[in-house]
Amino acid sequence: MYTREMKELIKKVEATRDQRAGVEFPRMNPEEKQEVLDNYHPDYNKSGFVDLKIGPSKGQAVPDELGELLEAYSSIKDIDLDLNAADYEADILIIGGGGAGAAAALEAKKHGAEPLLVTKLRFGDANTMMAQGGIQAADKPEDSPVEHFIDAMGGGHYKNIPELVKALVMDGPEIISWMEDMGIMLNKEEDGSMETFHGGGTSRMRAHSARDYSGAEIMRVLRDEVYNNDIEVVEFAPAVELLIDDQGRAAGAVLYNLETEEYYIARANKVIMATGGSGRLHYQGFPTTNHYGATGDGLILSYRAGAELIYPDTIQYHPTGVAYPPQIQGSLVTEKVRGLGGTPLNINGEQFVNPLETRDVEAAAIIRECKGRDLGIETPTGMIGVWLDTPLIERIHGEGTIEKQLPAMHRRYLKYNIDMRKEPLLVYPTLHYQNGGILIDENGRTKVENLYVAGETAGGIHGHNRLMGNSLLDILVFGRRAGQDAAKNCNENKPGQPGLKHLDKYHQELKEAGIPEDRRAPKLLPKYRHQKTS
Ligand code: FUM
Repeated sequence: MYTREMKELIKKVEATRDQRAGVEFPRMNPEEKQEVLDNYHPDYNKSGFVDLKIGPSKGQAVPDELGELLEAYSSIKDIDLDLNAADYEADILIIGGGGAGAAAALEAKKHGAEPLLVTKLRFGDANTMMAQGGIQAADKPEDSPVEHFIDAMGGGHYKNIPELVKALVMDGPEIISWMEDMGIMLNKEEDGSMETFHGGGTSRMRAHSARDYSGAEIMRVLRDEVYNNDIEVVEFAPAVELLIDDQGRAAGAVLYNLETEEYYIARANKVIMATGGSGRLHYQGFPTTNHYGATGDGLILSYRAGAELIYPDTIQYHPTGVAYPPQIQGSLVTEKVRGLGGTPLNINGEQFVNPLETRDVEAAAIIRECKGRDLGIETPTGMIGVWLDTPLIERIHGEGTIEKQLPAMHRRYLKYNIDMRKEPLLVYPTLHYQNGGILIDENGRTKVENLYVAGETAGGIHGHNRLMGNSLLDILVFGRRAGQDAAKNCNENKPGQPGLKHLDKYHQELKEAGIPEDRRAPKLLPKYRHQKTS
């Protein structure tokens, strides 16, 4: 429930609603965008980054918190392991139980290979499951992959690798059919055509959704399909190191059983890394929308094995994270809210930004309003945010729209006695996504032979800033491509005896760089229990 003071402030939002309804706030020109990014977007705050001193992307800037883990000794450095053992053997080892891993497994199986899927927590504990807004694909008559390509490139500041964007957008329409064929239920118009809406920075309405639990709907079906296809899944078994043969080829992984605390050796001809993002590293102290296991393991293991990073210094802060109530601070308020017309407003009930700028610009504009102009709203715990005028959605689209389009969010806020149909939400940017990651080609291959990367762990597709809905598309496009390519080439270039020799060189470099030996990675789970709460 809002406090009395907050309720007073909401009257200012109500007072301006009529004059705002139906009026489009002007978009920023390129100079205005650059100005707000330079001054307020966390990526442009160079004090939050460190240059890597070792490894294949030496000299590359990364967030401090990620640098600590990339430049760390292996967590199994002092553990005796029998590398001749093979606790698990498969044609393809898939590390990660989100959308990319599941899509890779399905495609690998379809193309005749025997995949094994291992995952840190439960199958489906992943950012995919938490995705709300939807998936972009140019499958409508007034749209085309060309328009989708141009939008994605523009959103990414034209830093995207064009071949990867081409793969993304060209596969888009087929991905929607594939999803439908499996039974994923997307919102439809009364005539049976796909219902779509605008995401930020898009020239066409191409975001498809399953109300506001699109990711959960996708993951529900993918998970069922994996089980129905008799694909072996091992839960609570994160990979803690890649196994590499004497020619530098990926050959499997060391797994750690979170329940028994034992190590296992998994051998495979190909490895697909799909461990997702790193939001739980809380870059620059931001809260996050990410799931509990998102601690960047895939980046760390792949980097040590010799894979290159691309744009690891570009992080996505979702413009609208929850600022109030504090119990759910940092969790996601989907961009679909703005796609439906919800607008950010300052303490005076004034609009200060078009709701559909690209995410980096929108987030920076909100930070400027709060920190630069001091026009944010302070909560009882000292958090600052801006209003997101959700009642405007019902004004534009009619009563019942929120219950129909945003039922999960509506119920979530009702638990805290906030009725988003009648009261605006209080929001502030939250750490949502790593735009960069491990450099891949169109089939998810990396510089390390036999090692593929798919999903949020991969980089280059989205340039410096991803557009909404291109992540659910990316995980399926590149998960499938990696699964297919790995399966088709499963018996080519088979690795020899798996080993950990690559760590010797890496550890030596760490030593020469003066990194203390007690710095270890990966860190499998965030350690909130060490934080003081008072
Ligand atoms: O706002 C959202 O629903 C998030 C979507 C995305 O990150 O693609």
